[in-house]
Amino acid sequence: MLEKLFSKRDIAKTVKKLARKIEKDFKGEEIIFVCLLKGSFMFTSDLVRCIRNPSRIDFMRVSSYGSAMKTKGTVNVLKDMEEDVEGKNIVIVEDIIDSGLTLTHIREMLRKRNPKSLKICALLDKRARREVEIEGDYVGFTIDDGFVVGYGIDYAEQYRNCPEICVVVGEEGK
Ligand code: IMP
Ligand code: MG
Repeated sequence: MLEKLFSKRDIAKTVKKLARKIEKDFKGEEIIFVCLLKGSFMFTSDLVRCIRNPSRIDFMRVSSYGSAMKTKGTVNVLKDMEEDVEGKNIVIVEDIIDSGLTLTHIREMLRKRNPKSLKICALLDKRARREVEIEGDYVGFTIDDGFVVGYGIDYAEQYRNCPEICVVVGEEGK
C-alpha cells in the first residue's frame, strides 16, 4: 500500500527552492546537469526548467539495486555521460541518497575528470542510513527510513509515474 508523503505542490515548491539556490551559487555560469537514470528523470526535468543559467543536460545510468529494497553495495556504470567534464561546473542530480555508496562512487569517478566544480543535488536524503560520509550540496527533503516511490522513483520498476512521493507501507515496505 502507498501512503502519500509529499504532494505535487510540496515537490514543486521544493524544486523551485533548490533551483533558486543553484542559480545563486553559479551566478549565470554554465552548468552541466548529470541526471542519474532512471530515478531522477522527473526531478531533473522539473529542476532544469526552473534554472535560467545556460545549461546542458546529460545522463548516466548506474545500478546498485536490483528489484530488492536494500543496497547490494556494488555500483555498476551501465551508461556513462557524454559531455566533456573538464573545466565545467557539474551538478549531479540524484533522486535519493541512502547509504551514500552510489554517489560516493560517481563523485570520485567524475572528480578524476577535472571539473571546475562538482556538486550534488538530491531530492531526498535518508541521512540516518548513511554508511559512508557524503552530503548533498542541495537537498530537497530529509526523510526517515522507509521505502519511497513516485515522481520517477520505483519499486521493482513500478510507480515511477505516480506524480506524488509516497511511502510503501505494510509487508512490502518493511
Ligand atoms: P545508496 O547508494 O544506498 O545511497 O543508494 C541510492 C539509490 O538507491 C537511489 O538512487 C535509489 O535508486 C535507491 N533507493 C534508495 N532508497 C530508495 C527508496 O526508498 N526507494 C527507491 N529507491 C531507493
Ligand atoms: Mg537511483
